[in-house]
Amino acid sequence: MQVEALPSAVRSVVQSHRCGGRRVGVVPTMGALHVGHVSLMEAARRECDFVVTTIFVNPMQFGPNEDFECYPRTLEQDLQRCEAAGVDLVFTPDAAQMFPPDAESIVSLTGLTRKLEGRDRPGHFDGVTTVVAKLFNITLPHRAYFGQKDYQQQLVIRRMVSDLNWALEIVTCPIVREDDGLAMSSRNRYLSPADRERSLVLFRALSMAQQLAETGSESPDSISRQMQQLIGGVNGVDLVYSVVADCDTLEPLVETSERAVALIAARVGKTRLIDNQILRFR
Ligand code: PAJ
Repeated sequence: MQVEALPSAVRSVVQSHRCGGRRVGVVPTMGALHVGHVSLMEAARRECDFVVTTIFVNPMQFGPNEDFECYPRTLEQDLQRCEAAGVDLVFTPDAAQMFPPDAESIVSLTGLTRKLEGRDRPGHFDGVTTVVAKLFNITLPHRAYFGQKDYQQQLVIRRMVSDLNWALEIVTCPIVREDDGLAMSSRNRYLSPADRERSLVLFRALSMAQQLAETGSESPDSISRQMQQLIGGVNGVDLVYSVVADCDTLEPLVETSERAVALIAARVGKTRLIDNQILRFR
């Protein structure tokens, strides 16, 4: 497995594989890799000939009061995980290469990024779309792999790729969970044992939402309210939002729909968690 920090080096390796007719898959990450990330690499390994993982804690997507400084950095272990997953090349740029002081360009979406996560984290998605655009231009993938865990993020990236006529395909992989249901996340390691226990209410609320949708007699609005009540009843969990929304637009649903997703964000102690579940209404 090759490890490169220079964009030019990565681009020339990838270009030679593309010229040889090989399909290139990329998995963008911020490191602190867990089984959820590994599932994306495995999907890329199955479907592509040359697999690139990028590891970059992107300063541009963190707000001023967020956890950029203390975001977990575990490069040695991450490289082992990439190697075990059969990754061919790991791109580990540093911030000065990705964002030189004279850089002026940003990629910014105007609608989808204002909702839910974007409303609570102003500027976050500009950081994501700008860095992902750069990573695409450096790694030149045929396919790029994202997790449903960050539901809005994968929608935003799909919108960007479509709007900008990028010749690549976005693949969204299922959420990988711990045995007790907590969605895997690099931030779970911040949780104290008590907070870890409290955080299970997110999965409980989503499971309840699915059960209610299956009864066929609950409106999306009533399901949202019941999720809020369940989460609001747990001390130490501060709900940011919980909503049943249209899968594509993320607008809150009024009528039941075949294209529904329940989305939750909450702060548990100092840790901000998100989770979601596609809903099947009867
Ligand atoms: P990061 O949080 O490291 O996540 C990298 C990818 O792993 C994302 O596509 C995310 O949705 C996916 N992922 C995380 N937890 C998962 C889980 N439990 N199951 C399945 N997939 C999971 O998302 C980012 O980094 C950044 O915003 C990035 C896209 C790299 C841009 O900086």
